[in-house]
Amino acid sequence: MSKSSLLILPGDGIGPEVMVEVRKIIDWFGSNRGLDFDVTEDLVGGAAYDAHGTPLHDETMTKALNVDAVLLGAVGGPKYDNLDFSLKPERGLLRLRKEMDLYSNLRPAQCFDALADFSSLKTEVVAGLDIMIVRELTSGIYFGEPRGIITEGNERVGINTQRYTESEIERVARSAFELAKRRGNKVCSMEKANVMESGVLWRQTVDKIHQADYSDVELSHMYADAGAMQLCRWPKQFDVIVTDNLFGDILSDTAAMLTGSLGMLPSASLGAPMENGRPKALYEPVHGSAPDIAGQGKANPIACILSFAMALRYSFDEGVEADRLEQSIESVLSKGARTHDLLGVEGVTPLSTSEMGDAIVEALTDSM
Ligand code: IPM
Ligand code: MG
Repeated sequence: MSKSSLLILPGDGIGPEVMVEVRKIIDWFGSNRGLDFDVTEDLVGGAAYDAHGTPLHDETMTKALNVDAVLLGAVGGPKYDNLDFSLKPERGLLRLRKEMDLYSNLRPAQCFDALADFSSLKTEVVAGLDIMIVRELTSGIYFGEPRGIITEGNERVGINTQRYTESEIERVARSAFELAKRRGNKVCSMEKANVMESGVLWRQTVDKIHQADYSDVELSHMYADAGAMQLCRWPKQFDVIVTDNLFGDILSDTAAMLTGSLGMLPSASLGAPMENGRPKALYEPVHGSAPDIAGQGKANPIACILSFAMALRYSFDEGVEADRLEQSIESVLSKGARTHDLLGVEGVTPLSTSEMGDAIVEALTDSM
């Protein structure tokens, strides 16, 4: 059998240091579970800009289009704030999403029991939480034209366009319904149909797909602002939430915080199936590059390690091994291990980024 290929793009800020820990996990699965990956590493974001003057080299883009899965750390940093928009680190990530056509972004928000106390919400509101946000990732206001800053009369005007075609809405809706069938069988679709035509079309299209093919799944609709409120009031009412690119960006940060820390949340961005039947895929933590703590051993590697667990599940059909990895993380946390972002209890000494990685490797070994 040929090895599965994995392109690793550590990126900027804490990206490289959390990725070092993921490499330990990948190596463990290679040595102990016979999962051999053909791993290549390359640059993205500010790191690529520094080396090549572009946030994503064409060669890297080509590699990304030809591997089984891409694993990305994080992009961005204050050093690049004044660059032209087309050169900003974030454009590297957006180009990957667009050219790989990764339209369905899965952002699970799961509250580990050991961390239920750590959320800023009451324990009973978050304990046992397990929801999935499906964010449309390749269209909407992130990519709509016209865009730019123009001059009108004696002042400047900033323009972005929210634009969705029916087929773009259809495919992400299908992906949400399919996921719901394997979970709690409930989808809540969020938009602003009260003020946006694109929201009206979104709602109509989700309804159409539901009636045609998924009438056995429970569907509800919510305005995105009310959805944000409900996520904080009683998040356990949700199973799968499907929403557009911008609302999904915001709602997924909200959902992430319910679980205690942005340092815990993975994501999978999936596209159409490749020749081998698996979807085109990129996995990345929901958190950003956190330049303020980069290089200090303070970053939590769990979001990135959980992103690799999602890769095992969605790209490599290794659900059992993904469970093993998730349970090993759960066990490390339940023994009280905490990185800096998860502190709060006095007297607990935090683990460094690499100590957390080592603890998870040890728990994996114990799981055998
Ligand atoms: C995310 C990030 C990105 C986004 C940035 C880094 C371009 O916030 O993945 O949520 O806005 O999509
Ligand atoms: Mg975001």
